Amino acid sequence: MVEFSVNGTKHSFDGDPETPLLWYLRDLAGMPGTKFGCGLGLCGACTVHLDGVATRSCQTWVSDLDGVEVTTIEGLSEDGNHPVQVAWRELNVAQCGYCQPGQIMQAASLLSETPDPSDEDINASMSGNICRCGTYPRIRAAIKLAAERAGQ
Ligand code: FES
Ligand code: FES
Repeated sequence: MVEFSVNGTKHSFDGDPETPLLWYLRDLAGMPGTKFGCGLGLCGACTVHLDGVATRSCQTWVSDLDGVEVTTIEGLSEDGNHPVQVAWRELNVAQCGYCQPGQIMQAASLLSETPDPSDEDINASMSGNICRCGTYPRIRAAIKLAAERAGQ
């Protein structure tokens, strides 16, 4: 039996040890905010936080999560007002929206580790998160806006 938390709520699991966290979240826990893109760790759509660190949930087995705190887009903030989410809305970052939960989770992890990221820091952290709509310039601007506000 594996015990972990998702957005502050305790979960336990004793199913197939190779169940990916992404499937657990979407199909078993009823949290569809985390998206399936490639299933291969190549697109970032499935990004969640494990103990605060951005991680691809499609490449994470639930059986490896004993004692881990999982945070999904649904739990990033109580009211949808995490500084990254506020900046995202203000700059109308999303286009189709599909990649955006993963982008936001990756950006939130970047800013928690690097509060004032350079362009190189943003490139290094965000380059694995693919957006087919090409919202990259707005993603960069929103990360900088959120960082600027946090530094005020
Ligand atoms: S679905 Fe996980 S990285 Fe693409
Ligand atoms: S907003 Fe459409 S894929 Fe990124």
